[in-house]
Amino acid sequence: MPEFQTSPGMRDILPPESARWRRFVQVFADVVETAGYGSVISPLLEDIAVFHRVGDATDVVTKEMYDFIDKGGRHIALRPELTASVCRAFVQHRPSTPWKVWYSGSQFRYEKPQRGRFRQFDQVGIEVLGADDPYLDVEVIWLGWQFYQQLGLRQVTLLLNSLGEPDDRARYVSALQAYFDANVDALSEASRTTLAKNPLRVLDSKRREDAPLIQSAPKIADFYSEAAAAHFQAVQDGLSQVGVPFTMDPTLVRGLDYYRRTTFEFQGGTLDSAQNALGGGGRYDGLVESLGGPPTAGIGFALGLDRTLIACDDEGVFPAVSAGVDVFVVDTTGGKEALHITTQLRVAGISADRAYDNRSMKSQMKGADRSGAAVAVIIGSNEIEQGVITVRPLRGNDIQFTVARHDLIESVKKVLS
Ligand code: HAM
Repeated sequence: MPEFQTSPGMRDILPPESARWRRFVQVFADVVETAGYGSVISPLLEDIAVFHRVGDATDVVTKEMYDFIDKGGRHIALRPELTASVCRAFVQHRPSTPWKVWYSGSQFRYEKPQRGRFRQFDQVGIEVLGADDPYLDVEVIWLGWQFYQQLGLRQVTLLLNSLGEPDDRARYVSALQAYFDANVDALSEASRTTLAKNPLRVLDSKRREDAPLIQSAPKIADFYSEAAAAHFQAVQDGLSQVGVPFTMDPTLVRGLDYYRRTTFEFQGGTLDSAQNALGGGGRYDGLVESLGGPPTAGIGFALGLDRTLIACDDEGVFPAVSAGVDVFVVDTTGGKEALHITTQLRVAGISADRAYDNRSMKSQMKGADRSGAAVAVIIGSNEIEQGVITVRPLRGNDIQFTVARHDLIESVKKVLS
């Protein structure tokens, strides 16, 4: 075992997996940019108060943050998510609304590592600030759905709920509190602790002993104001209109505190239930205000890259593909010719690799094989003498031939086409 290894819950992403990560973000960018979203790049670190301001009753904020005091004495946290940073940026820069942005990058949460749960994980996501329209909720959810379709995932289900307006939510939380207080003996130990902090989160318990009580708990739908009910109905109608199938889940409360009205989660069909949320989001009207900005409606989602790729592996879609090169240059004359030829090829837009350290012909040809190249370009003392280069197709039945040096690029292009 080497002396130094990655910290628990953190991973090295090596080729070809790393290329798959890049493609993942590219596919996401293509989907959301066609809907007018621009990318925002945020710092990895924020003043810890930004995250405390957005929710002090969730594990993500209270227990799982990586934080430290910097050299200037500031209390800093590595971001556990990006919605708070985007809202902080909105307040700081006051862009015109609706502000539609997308992002990708690493988040940090000190959780217990397991399959699909890491301490450094990546998300892609979108946020829209400054629009209240229920058809925006539909657009946002459709984009998430569309992205999963583009990856080829077919076992993703969409869970949908509304937490009502803040007043509805507050009345509901009181009712839940009273209900669970009256039945506290039937709750698991862990859920009793949750109840003391946030009764809504008890609905999120996956413990079997809590299930019957949660099943008969008061339902949020009975607490909706007229406006909240109308908004939610419009969202459901819109989703049906654009052909996104959804399942209503009145216990879907999500892990962060800032949600109001529409909430949703994309679940995978193949991961353990504690890790099967591939992505989620919802409305968070009020978050910008809590960070010192004007009253501003907000909605968005984040999709977990790590988990979604596990789901892709399980469903056998969106595989990692080795990048490879088109041409491998074999030079048995010392290596300087290979430098010249690879440079020529690369400038012409043909991807090319080579061997180093003046290896034997046999060893270089092995390298050519491993590289996945379609063509080997060979230069040895015979070729130098005759002023030519050998071109050897590595796939199919074509036989090798020699070309004059100045014809190399054209000949290689022909073989490759
Ligand atoms: P979240 O539900 O905390 O929401 O995270 C979104 C997704 O990130 C999860 O569904 C999951 O796929 C992934 N994820 C979370 N924690 C981990 C972990 N420890 N390991 C691997 N993957 C993980 C948010 O972060 C909100 N900011 C979403 C949002 C955006 N709401 C509104 N706008």
